[in-house]
Amino acid sequence: MKLAGKVAVVTGGASGIGEFTVREMVEEGAKVVIADLNDDLGSKLVEELNQEEPQVAYIHVDVTKEDQVENMIELAVSEFGKIDILYNNAGIGSLSPSAELPFEEWRKVLSVNLDGVFLAAKHAIKAMQKNGGGSIVNTASILGHVGQAQTAPYTASKGAVVNLTRTLAVEYAKDNIRVNAVSPGYIETPLLNQLDEAMKNHLISLHPIGRLGKPEEIAKAVVFLASDDASFVTGSNLLVDGGYTAQ
Ligand SMILES: NC(=O)c1ccc[n+]([C@@H]2O[C@H](COP(=O)([O-])OP(=O)(O)OC[C@H]3O[C@@H](n4cnc5c(N)ncnc54)[C@H](O)[C@@H]3O)[C@@H](O)[C@H]2O)c1
Repeated sequence: MKLAGKVAVVTGGASGIGEFTVREMVEEGAKVVIADLNDDLGSKLVEELNQEEPQVAYIHVDVTKEDQVENMIELAVSEFGKIDILYNNAGIGSLSPSAELPFEEWRKVLSVNLDGVFLAAKHAIKAMQKNGGGSIVNTASILGHVGQAQTAPYTASKGAVVNLTRTLAVEYAKDNIRVNAVSPGYIETPLLNQLDEAMKNHLISLHPIGRLGKPEEIAKAVVFLASDDASFVTGSNLLVDGGYTAQ
């Protein structure tokens, strides 16, 4: 088991990529704090995964609120004794021509996708320093590497996450804290359910591998980066995108 004895916090852990990563982490032996806004999905997941023994805990967290983020990290320590892994995964999208985009919408996306990553990393790092080290994985995106029309705050936030990852990696390597990003291509999650069939087929055509990704394929990459298998990997960005950005 790749994460035996480890304690992880997963933001946005109730749905999509986050949910599958929680499952994979538990499978690999970790105890996991699931942090999300969606209490229904979060509690269902806890009920399912705790049937035999307590392996996960749920906390309602808005990652844009520093006091809530601080409580989230404290819960990992009080419930499971420490924090070894933070997976910064909570994120939202936005679709609008830039010139029509209300400033509030711009701020909202930046706030969840970028401020949320910073705040959770800030508080996790303090706890990891006391614990002798740790591993942080941030969800960026292919759209942190290439542009796409009508997604200005999303692409800006994800590009920023890629470079924030590098800075945190450089800054905290001395404390044995590794920081990496994973950049998924289009993945079949509730975030994409809003799209019609024609749009989905268009997206498929953009991936040389000829299909969209599955959330479990991102979960496995995250577990690799979080685990000791990646002990010499820090400041990196792992593209898991079916070749989207290779062309
Ligand atoms: N699905 C894709 O194609 C794709 C591609 C590249 C990157 N990503 C990124 O992967 C991450 C997960 O996306 P997903 O597709 O699984 O989406 P999703 O909507 O299924 O899951 C996102 C989760 O984040 C939670 N969340 C949203 N705002 C929050 C907040 N302020 N505080 C706490 N939790 C919050 C939601 O409740 C939800 O459970 C996001 O960062 C997204 O940008 C997704």
